[in-house]
Amino acid sequence: MWWFYRKGPSGFSGASTAEEVTAGVDGQALVAVVTGASSGIGLETARVLALRGVHVVMPVRNVAAGLAVRESIVAKVPGARIDVLEMDLSSMASVRRFASEFESLNLPLNILINNAGVMTRNCTCSCDGLELHFATNHIGHFLLTNLLLENMKRTCRDSGTEGRIVNVTSSGHVMTYPEGICFDKIHDPSGLNDFIAYGQSKLANILHVYELSRIFKEEGVNISASAVHPGVIATNLFRGRSIAAAFLNSIGRIMCRSVEQGAATTCYVAMHPQVQGTSGKYFADCNVASPSLQASDPELAKKLWQFSLKTVSP
Ligand SMILES: *[C@@H]1O[C@H](CO)[C@@H](O)[C@H](O)[C@H]1NC(C)=O
Ligand SMILES: *[C@@H]1O[C@H](CO)[C@@H](O)[C@H](O)[C@H]1NC(C)=O
Ligand SMILES: *[C@@H]1O[C@H](CO)[C@@H](O)[C@H](O)[C@H]1NC(C)=O
Repeated sequence: MWWFYRKGPSGFSGASTAEEVTAGVDGQALVAVVTGASSGIGLETARVLALRGVHVVMPVRNVAAGLAVRESIVAKVPGARIDVLEMDLSSMASVRRFASEFESLNLPLNILINNAGVMTRNCTCSCDGLELHFATNHIGHFLLTNLLLENMKRTCRDSGTEGRIVNVTSSGHVMTYPEGICFDKIHDPSGLNDFIAYGQSKLANILHVYELSRIFKEEGVNISASAVHPGVIATNLFRGRSIAAAFLNSIGRIMCRSVEQGAATTCYVAMHPQVQGTSGKYFADCNVASPSLQASDPELAKKLWQFSLKTVSP
């Protein structure tokens, strides 16, 4: 429960809000791409980054909804710099289109926040024939990250500022896969057996961050890659209008974090000067936390990288 959170070494805790952890941080010189910014913690992340002066680019599936979100942020943060571009993470073609549209904006890129995730329970396949959770949570972001990387490298060379890639792992209830998921529809089922064993695209995200940060270190590139767990968020826990649902939701709101708190770790890792030089780590409650042992398996991380690379190669 949030009121029991103790402050960690960073001086912040699970009770800190995104505004609190970025207070006094100047983002005027920075540009960020934030996926999944049309609702929930993604929206709050975009709002707080904009509040700190960051130029935020929001790739969204539904542009009309994205523009409405931009309006709502600008209403609260006058002068906020926000661009809305179309992107469907479950389609590689759409991700490529977004990347080239972003390039044509001629903006530098300092921060990439891979935040979007899908939460459907059914076995659904994306238009590329990949299982939807895996496609959206991992492959879509993998491709997006790869396509934006040249710009990020150029930006940190030209500006002398550290680039930051922040992967938000899906929260609480998304962690387990249902039975009967359509892994047979994936291009290379044998390459995926390790994953089915671990059963989570969340793990894939963490593994990817490890591999990415290893590669950056090897190349001497001043970009950090971090994984973030946002904590369980109070919205959408129980649906319906029954008294029981209302009761459970109010308990839920007490026990879980608000959206303002849920966006805190992401904003902290994206912007705070304390985080500089820290890469390949897993953050929770605005502090470095330990992921599961499997998540730090470097062999598995390499395997996933190779598999993902093969999947996105045209
Ligand atoms: C799953 O699919 C079934 C049948 O197609 C549908 O009735 C149900 O609403 C779906 N559930 C979710 C969570 O999408
Ligand atoms: C996590 O980040 C890597 C790049 O750092 C990306 O390829 C991977 O798919 C990401 N996943 C998510 C959900 O961000
Ligand atoms: C990375 O960039 C920061 C500025 O944001 C700088 O202080 C730091 O020295 C750089 N690190 C390396 C290894 O170049």
